[in-house]
Amino acid sequence: MYVLGIETSCDETAVAIYHAEKGLIAHTLHSQILTHNEYGGVVPELASRDHVRKLIPLINRVLRDSRLGSTDINGIAYTAGPGLMGALLVGAATARSLAWTWQIPAIAVHHMEGHLLAPMLEEQPPRFPFVALLISGGHTLLIEVSGMGRYCLLGESLDDAAGEAFDKTAKLLGLDYPGGPALSNLARQGNPRFKFPRPMTDRPGLDFSFSGLKTFTLNTYNTSNRSLQDKADIAFAFQQAIAETLTIKCKRALQQTGLSRLVVAGGVSANQEIRRQLERMSEKAGADIFFPRPEFCTDNGAMIAYAGCRRLQAGQTQDLNIFARPRWPM
Ligand code: KG4
Ligand code: ZN
Repeated sequence: MYVLGIETSCDETAVAIYHAEKGLIAHTLHSQILTHNEYGGVVPELASRDHVRKLIPLINRVLRDSRLGSTDINGIAYTAGPGLMGALLVGAATARSLAWTWQIPAIAVHHMEGHLLAPMLEEQPPRFPFVALLISGGHTLLIEVSGMGRYCLLGESLDDAAGEAFDKTAKLLGLDYPGGPALSNLARQGNPRFKFPRPMTDRPGLDFSFSGLKTFTLNTYNTSNRSLQDKADIAFAFQQAIAETLTIKCKRALQQTGLSRLVVAGGVSANQEIRRQLERMSEKAGADIFFPRPEFCTDNGAMIAYAGCRRLQAGQTQDLNIFARPRWPM
């Protein structure tokens, strides 16, 4: 069973082919970073237009790379939400139309389920059940995962998502979009000088709140000399605060559920310092930890093709409607 996966929820046009037994066959991606860079963030209209331009050529490329023809494909999975409406519609309409033309099923995939399942593409995938920490630009979720499609929300961010906090803080420091990687690069030159709060860690519960860290950054920055070293020290303190907060909550979630496997995914899970702190905690707690490879932490087509393949195997497909939801609880 070959499934074509299409991801267009934000600023990456990504396509992949996954085979139920052989695994990942091919994947490709076009990043719109250069398109949005001069605006300091994603411009939705430009994102949609670029998806229109790039999607069909990328589909042709994965078919060519995998030496498959359209008649070999058994289903088309697409990200149906959450995301930017115009961007989602490009992927959804293309997927639905191709599936109709090729007379195969279309499968609407939840973007965060894609992220959640991304570690399944690795050589040593996690077994169910596990605790999942999903940290992306739009979401920060702690989930108890009992099986495919069996998700229980343990905690979430009450305001900014972890990635959003990275991006907004980076902007305050005058760094380029996308802010997360830029801020973490700058933090490498930083020294432990400022102490930032670890929000919501001093009370029970598994929710997060990251918007206060932004204000803390702004106040610290405004009272500093605003030198490059000041910026690096602030970036360091900010990253430490996020990493330690996420680690404290994950430790708590493992204790609360009694589970001994932790999955960490979504764009922010590419962050080396966050990975390091979570690895250290897991080792001490006697838990196994699983991450996607860095290129599958951020948006990609492989995770959508994988999630679609598992849903297709379970007989879950969509009717002829074009399914796109900018807001869609998991
Ligand atoms: O999962 P993703 O690619 O898209 C969403 O679903 O939102 O995540 C993008 C987010 C952005 O906020 C980006 O700044 C952040 O992930 N990010 C990072 C790193 N790489 C990407 N944040 C911190 N450190 C990184 N190395
Ligand atoms: Zn994402």
